[in-house]
Amino acid sequence: MRRSAMLLVSLALGLCVQTASAKVTESDFGKTKAGVEVKKFELTNKNGMKVRLSSRGAALIGVDVPDRDGKVADVVFGFDDVAGYESDANDYFGCTTGRYANRIAKAKFTLDGKEYKLAANNGVNHLHGGKTESLDKVVWTGVPFEKDGVSGVKFSYTSPDGQEGYPGKQDMTVTFTLNDKNELKIDYSAKSDKPTVINLTNHAYFNLGGAGSPTINDHVLKLNADNYTPVDDTLITTGEKAPVEGTPLDFRTPTAIGKRVDELTKTSALGYDHNFVINRGDAGEGELVEAAKLVDPKSGRTLTVITDQPGIQFYGGNFLKGNKGKGGKTYGHRSACCLETQVFPDSPNKQGLEGWTDCVLRPGDEYKHSCIYAFGVEK
Ligand code: GAL
Repeated sequence: MRRSAMLLVSLALGLCVQTASAKVTESDFGKTKAGVEVKKFELTNKNGMKVRLSSRGAALIGVDVPDRDGKVADVVFGFDDVAGYESDANDYFGCTTGRYANRIAKAKFTLDGKEYKLAANNGVNHLHGGKTESLDKVVWTGVPFEKDGVSGVKFSYTSPDGQEGYPGKQDMTVTFTLNDKNELKIDYSAKSDKPTVINLTNHAYFNLGGAGSPTINDHVLKLNADNYTPVDDTLITTGEKAPVEGTPLDFRTPTAIGKRVDELTKTSALGYDHNFVINRGDAGEGELVEAAKLVDPKSGRTLTVITDQPGIQFYGGNFLKGNKGKGGKTYGHRSACCLETQVFPDSPNKQGLEGWTDCVLRPGDEYKHSCIYAFGVEK
């Protein structure tokens, strides 16, 4: 066959493969204060489930899913415009978090004998990648795609050497893919030209009754974790692993979040804000394991979190202050939770500690992390 004819045939085949089920649209979301254009993407699957993404922070800004009666609601926190995301009311809503998500003690770490200083933006500690140029605050480049019945967006961003104090020029991609099983998969990858530390995650706040519903305490949670990583009073991991058995952190049997939360109110976490050690059994590196399942008994909506990471931070929205979000809805204290897959917090200061996680990325190696947020309904 001549090359031009072959091209026509493969183009035609390509169009057939792009079934009506998988669709992605791109539009202008507005501009940042600094004048940078931000894009908004919307993925739709054959069930009509929709996922919205923003190029600022490679962020998950909307997830429309049906309840047991088919009634659709948006279950993640966010804002209607870029200004909302740039405001103080934005508590890392839906963002890609990094370059090191979670806390790093005393805002510093030593790697290969050299000390690196980071922003102390959470008391004396470093949180979620820094103050002004953390990954949630920069604009990524998003490329939409539709293929083999799925739709998605691949975001890329290069963090320059020294940005927010982290060593190495780091090339990153975060790919969001929606399939027809109502699964949203997030694949992270990164390479660095110098040894560095890394921990990327997504910081979506979920309320399966619809974002803006008053509480997360009525949701039932199951966590596949026998152990958690205790913290000191500045929320820095002590380096130990402790059993959840006999504590309010035991979610191995599905339990309402509100049932025991008040036992934790007087801790510095103010409620649930803990990293759990996922039971990975014999699963090897890169193998996906179910880490958590969240159920809203009222609406019947469910969210299962599946990952290849060793840890999951369950944060119960204790620091939410009742600011207004999308459609003027109020996002109050404990009205949503985050289920953030990641390595154990403060790994940069626990290098070599037995049983702890490795977070060092060296030139020539590739950081990889996958997480699936699978949505469903229970009768
Ligand atoms: C969570 C963290 C909380 C809090 C929150 C942002 O990931 O566990 O302690 O910092 O982010 O407000």
